[in-house]
Amino acid sequence: QSLKVGLIPGDGIGVEVIPAAKEAILALGSDIPKPEFVDLAAGFEHFTRHGTALPDETVQIMKEECDCALFGAVSSPTRKVVGYSSPIVALRKVLDLYANVRPVISVAADSSQKPAVDLVVVRENTECLYVKQEELKFTENGKEARATRLITERASRHIGQMAFEIAKGRPRKHVTIIHKSNVLSVTDGLFRETVREVPTLPELAGKYDDVTIAEQIVDSAVYRLFREPQIYDVMVAPNLYGDILSDAAAALVGSLGLVPSVNAGDKFIMGEPVHGSAPDIVGQNIANPLASIRSAALMLRFLGYTKGAERIDRAVEEVVREGRELTPDLGGKGTTTGVTEAVLKKI
Ligand code: NAI
Ligand code: MG
Repeated sequence: QSLKVGLIPGDGIGVEVIPAAKEAILALGSDIPKPEFVDLAAGFEHFTRHGTALPDETVQIMKEECDCALFGAVSSPTRKVVGYSSPIVALRKVLDLYANVRPVISVAADSSQKPAVDLVVVRENTECLYVKQEELKFTENGKEARATRLITERASRHIGQMAFEIAKGRPRKHVTIIHKSNVLSVTDGLFRETVREVPTLPELAGKYDDVTIAEQIVDSAVYRLFREPQIYDVMVAPNLYGDILSDAAAALVGSLGLVPSVNAGDKFIMGEPVHGSAPDIVGQNIANPLASIRSAALMLRFLGYTKGAERIDRAVEEVVREGRELTPDLGGKGTTTGVTEAVLKKI
């Protein structure tokens, strides 16, 4: 038995940090089936060279051969570039990776202490404004731009169930639904109601009785997140709010370079650091590899290889706690390769 992992480094620091995640998986030895890696192309650089950001071959190999994948980051221009469309947004759709799960956890100074921040953002991953149906019109009063925001009962139920399932497995068992249905009563209203109803569905009856539910309007959720992050356990949100909330939560634990995620569907799991391609630090061997290494662990956890995942997570925690080998985003003088070595030694 083997574990086939697709590797999509993408652009920028993705190319520097994905190899670190690969090394961490390899270091696990017999705790997981023998890993096999296949390198796959995607990203803006691939687009400028070959005219496509997501080659068909990449999708086909992922679908037909891989058990899971690790995605680095891609650079997406903030201006419209004809023919270009973000491959990560497309991949989430074609592989039906409907949930983006982003645990944000701080490392306590002492292993006997509780972390100050320990929450999971469960972000819907396929709809909301990310359906990218935008149009520009020229009217007599000037330009007018519109975007469609799609919220379906099906996707909201899916993500809601994922949130309750994750909460059930955590000590506090608490879900906070994030929305703005005071203003967007139709779209966010549907999201809020559908998620709320998940525990009452006949086929799930009794399953989530021990999970408590709260809800919070997104702007005040950000406020409370910064003032009292400990009130949150699992935060479930539509795509855009979840995207913003998880970057905000990353600031609470010191760096985006620490926060992992998985894109999860019923048939496929893809690990991905929350950060982007970080053009400001690319090529200097100072990108923090820990978000990618933790994404590998999270991916393994979702695949059921808990022991391997825990070994990686513990190694990362110890390296951060000791503070001897850290990249500049965490105040250290270390390098990408140095930090990776330190983690591999701990594993
Ligand atoms: P970013 O996440 O790339 O960087 C934000 C800040 O955090 C920068 O100062 C960067 O140096 C720092 N940072 C990020 N990751 C780090 C790491 N591992 N170690 C140390 N420092 C780190 O976001 P930004 O700058 O807004 O976007 C840059 C490009 O990345 C854009 O083209 C954007 O479209 C793309 N992007 C791609 C994502 C993806 O592929 N899923 C997600 C977010 C952005
Ligand atoms: Mg983001």
